[in-house]
Amino acid sequence: MPSNKIQKIAVLTSGGDAPGMNACLRAVVRTGIFYGKEILGIYQGYQGLIEGRSKILSSRDVSNCIQRGGTILKTARSDEFRTAAGRARGWQHLQENHVDALIAIGGDGTFTGADIFSQEYNTPVICIPGTIDNDIPGTDFTIGFDTANNTAIEAIDKIRDTADSHCRLFFIEVMGRHAGSIALWAGIGGGSEAVLIPEINCTVEDLIGQLEFGARKQKTSSIVIVAEGAFEGGAIRLAELVEEKFSHYDVKVAVLGHLQRGGSPSSFDRVLASRLGHAAVKSLLNGESKKMVGLVGNEIKLTDLSSVIGNKFSLDQSLIDIVHILSI
Ligand code: F6P
Repeated sequence: MPSNKIQKIAVLTSGGDAPGMNACLRAVVRTGIFYGKEILGIYQGYQGLIEGRSKILSSRDVSNCIQRGGTILKTARSDEFRTAAGRARGWQHLQENHVDALIAIGGDGTFTGADIFSQEYNTPVICIPGTIDNDIPGTDFTIGFDTANNTAIEAIDKIRDTADSHCRLFFIEVMGRHAGSIALWAGIGGGSEAVLIPEINCTVEDLIGQLEFGARKQKTSSIVIVAEGAFEGGAIRLAELVEEKFSHYDVKVAVLGHLQRGGSPSSFDRVLASRLGHAAVKSLLNGESKKMVGLVGNEIKLTDLSSVIGNKFSLDQSLIDIVHILSI
């Protein structure tokens, strides 16, 4: 039975934006209103909470946003919220607005802030994983990953056309400072020859070995996907080093960058976001706190924030093997 103790819930998006955050916000607002609660939207993440930028959201305020990328609440990375003084100002804003609980949509940094805040001020919080990186333990997928991955694959397909026509070796850099999920999935889906990710050490010599193997098998063009954090200096530096030692191909580089963060969310991301937003409100009303809602084997599961924060998301080793096997 939904709790009457919680009457007003604040919601914010924080950290890097991700396609589907709006669909999630819409689900939070409408589920809250459905159960007779008020939803206070906080603008620009924790920084907006500190500076008191907020507004009560109606069902109509979240109309026509399910298909939009980015976040209509806007987002920020707040250094001030890392300080006790910053969090105290945030708490004051919640008190002035009679807020009983908080929902935070974002990644690991967002969750850390929510966890400390909840501990300091004994406020119920529920977190929702929204990041294109897909690097959060306790959920198989994060909101935005599927869309970002599709964007990357679309770009890879286009680059493959020209790489093939000119018999070129292309290095394509995708996002993921600390995480290789986009690189791995886009690498498999885009049929790449090799994938470099931050989680696994790969030397230039290893890579050259793989490319030479391909050349011996009559490959005339190759695509190497590089996660931005996989190699010091990124794909550009890696390409320079390979070019020095490997003259079979004309080498080119494409850095996809923030393209991957925007765009209309995929159907998968919209549905995931709607399910998680709905579950976050229901969990709060059922008395849960300091938990993250996630998707595990197509079921919505709650995980303690303490086991999410600081723990490593484990990449599926079989995906790494598949890249090798399918690139022969
Ligand atoms: O967290 C998502 C992410 O896109 C990372 O993959 C990337 O390294 C980082 O954000 C970039 O952040 P910013 O837009 O602040 O440069």
